[in-house]
Parts: sequence; structure tokens; C-alpha cells
Amino acid sequence: MTTLTAVHGDITTQHVDAVVNAANTAMRGGGGVDGAIHRAGGSEVLADCIARFPHGLATGDAGWTTAGNLPARWVIHTVGPNHAAGERDRSLLLSCYRRSLEVAAGLGARSVAFPLISAGVYGWPADDAVAAAIEAITSTPTAVERVLLVAYSAADHHRVSAAVEALAE
Ligand code: APR
Repeated sequence: MTTLTAVHGDITTQHVDAVVNAANTAMRGGGGVDGAIHRAGGSEVLADCIARFPHGLATGDAGWTTAGNLPARWVIHTVGPNHAAGERDRSLLLSCYRRSLEVAAGLGARSVAFPLISAGVYGWPADDAVAAAIEAITSTPTAVERVLLVAYSAADHHRVSAAVEALAE
């Protein structure tokens, strides 16, 4: 039985086995969650990105690296569709969550924290970014026991909390 919990906070401080990073196809860091994870995780994370993803990562796919100095053991990097650049294929956004859960289970991770993939720089409309996260996570059979959906802003936390509470109704 997998539990899903809405969390308001910074994903880099979550005490879970794996945190998911909203990366880009180059896999060499960036802003937003990507910047926060690389800053907090330290240079080991980038070194592992370079070693394990010499040619980057495809949109909708996921792959893991060390978490360096983060409380988590692994970072699972995934690349969401860039809505702002015209990438509107929602199945790729769903795939980010599904592939991340597959990678997490393959590592033996029992707890995973997700940010709202594509909901920042990539400009995916917030309500549907939340809906896609919930849809993908709740429809993917997984050995992962505990999933956190971490919202950074109060507004996003309100959206995520309402969506998670609606599941119980
Ligand atoms: N913890 C949790 N959530 C965060 C944090 C954080 N420290 N920082 C930002 N967020 C939230 C944003 O508010 C947004 O809701 O994560 C969500 C995803 O935003 P981005 O990090 O901008 O990711 P995305 O929209 O997928 O764009 C990815 O942005 O940072 C670059 O290198 C990254 O090119 C890639 C692109």
C-alpha cells in the first residue's frame, strides 16, 4: 500500500530515500529545483550526472545519481515537457512520475519525494501539473511505500493538499 502525502517545503530537506529532480535534457544543473538540489547536494551530484548521463536524459525519462550531501540517498532526475517552449504532450509529464517510481523501486527506495514537475520554469499550468502528478502516482503500481508531493509555494501546497484530500472522498 503506497501512501501519498502533500508537503509544503523545500525538497532538499526531505528525509526520504530518494528525491526527484525537475531536470533538463542536458543534465548539468539549472535553476529551480535543479539548482536547489545541486547546491545542497554538492559537486558529487553534478559529477555523477556527467558520469552517468554523458548524453543527457530524454524528456519523460528518469535516471538516478548519488544525492551527495542531501539527507536522501539518491536523486532521481527526470525531465518534464517544457510547456513554455510548446511541448504540450501530457503523456510525457505522466511518464516523468511513472519512470521515477520505476527507478526508485529498482533502487529499493521505500520513500520518494516529488516536486511538481514542469510547474515552474517549464510553465505547465499549475492545476494540471498537480492533476497529472496525482493521476500518475495513484495509477502506477509500485513497491515504493511512501510518496511525498512537495509544494514549494503556499498556493501550490493548497492545490496539492486539496487534490490529495479529494482522493479520500
Ligand atoms: N523544493 C521543492 N519545490 C521547488 C523548489 C524546492 N527547493 N524550488 C522550486 N520548486 C518548485 C517550483 O515552484 C515548481 O512548482 O518546483 C516546481 C518545478 O519548478 P522548476 O524547478 O522550475 O522545474 P520545471 O518547471 O520542471 O523546469 C525545469 O528549470 O530549473 C530549470 O534546470 C531546470 O531547465 C530545467 C527547468
